[in-house]
Amino acid sequence: METSPTNQRGLQDAAALLRHSAAPAALTGAGVSRESGIPTFREAQTGLWAQYDPTELATPEAFHRNPELVWQFYQSRRADLAAIQPNPGHYALAAFETRYPDFSIITQNVDDLHERAGSKNVIRLHGRLSANKCSADCKGNPTPIDYTGIESLKPPPCPHCGAPLRPDVVWFNEMLPPREISLAGEICASADVLLVIGTSGMVSPASLLPAAARSAGAMIIEINPQISEISRIAHVHIAAPSGQALPALLRLLESTSL
Ligand code: OAD
Repeated sequence: METSPTNQRGLQDAAALLRHSAAPAALTGAGVSRESGIPTFREAQTGLWAQYDPTELATPEAFHRNPELVWQFYQSRRADLAAIQPNPGHYALAAFETRYPDFSIITQNVDDLHERAGSKNVIRLHGRLSANKCSADCKGNPTPIDYTGIESLKPPPCPHCGAPLRPDVVWFNEMLPPREISLAGEICASADVLLVIGTSGMVSPASLLPAAARSAGAMIIEINPQISEISRIAHVHIAAPSGQALPALLRLLESTSL
């Protein structure tokens, strides 16, 4: 782990806050999966998809205009995901549950790397890449459909109504799942420390959670190699990749001397 004096100080301060914390929680974004090899949302995509802006593919309008294109984009992301693994940052966060049994992770990520690393309490604000639903919500919102084939170049039809299937993720201009956003609000209202990891803080309502937690009394620890929209409200900023910073923080927490 990079040992700049600022980061060492940040790690020490974060460990001191966590050592006295009774109810910490975490909010994660694309940065936590970066070291597993998934480009962050706002980074240029690679390969075939480099010519597309993901913010223009991840909308209901794009799906309506060109369902095949959007379906293929998500099928390609699914294939990429099948080949990658959680990184030490995901595993360190899973270990937080041993130390703090009520520890929850609120994630904006649609990958399943937190769960694959062993985290149990994961609140998914933006859905799950591996799941599908009926695009017409014909039996209620959502209408989950169990389809896991990867070969289809066209979205298969919903077995109930024939509308094309779509990934069960939240797109731009769509509402977040009400249960999850309400749970996330409750967690942030009762957390005494919120770790905010690998998010640019540019997409609401997730981006509003750290400020809400801070207003309710939580101390904010940000882990992000860059300055983000969250940095100005963070009490502690660790400017390092989460795959290094989180295991280092866990080691500090587990050591007897601070
Ligand atoms: P972004 O791509 O906006 O931001 C990723 C953040 O991770 C940036 O601030 C990077 O500096 C930081 N980062 C990069 N590498 C890192 C590392 N190794 N460790 C820690 N941090 C690192 O991703 P999100 O904030 O997650 O929503 O984006 C939020 C939402 O915008 C996404 O969930 C997606 C998108 O629209 C939907 O699809 C609805």
